Amino acid sequence: MHIDRTEKTFFMFSVALIIVFAIAVGISGMVYGIALPTPPEGFDVNPQTVATPGVSPWGEQPPDARLHELAPGEYEVYILAQTWLYLPNRITIPAGSKITFYVTSKDVIHGFRLDDTNINMMVIPGEVSKLTATFDEPGTYNFVCHEYCGVGHHTMYGQLIVE
Ligand code: CUA
Repeated sequence: MHIDRTEKTFFMFSVALIIVFAIAVGISGMVYGIALPTPPEGFDVNPQTVATPGVSPWGEQPPDARLHELAPGEYEVYILAQTWLYLPNRITIPAGSKITFYVTSKDVIHGFRLDDTNINMMVIPGEVSKLTATFDEPGTYNFVCHEYCGVGHHTMYGQLIVE
């Protein structure tokens, strides 16, 4: 069977590209530990009950109470994503603080992208997306939903205020 030289080159290039991508996926998973979000041990994140007070940290009321100070300058916050808001949607921390975001959804897939940081997560019902960042510069950082989640998607945002 005769295969044209150009076609052969193109075919080999395509196969090489697939191999490169497969290696990249392997390295990111095994060396850098990049993985799909999964619930941490001991967390009940059933989307049907996750927002119920007493069941999970995402049920704490009022939502502002979901920001916990662990130590001076060290915080964690449990943010519940739902159509079409984040609760809490206004978080205030002092400059120089380190904060860990635990984000889950009680309905559909949402996103969580925080301006001027590398925080960019998919938020999946039943799973927990977690990332930590340190904020040295005072200012207002918006976080927005970047997964289309319905007619109110473009109104879904919140703010991290660093004082
Ligand atoms: Cu939530 Cu788009």
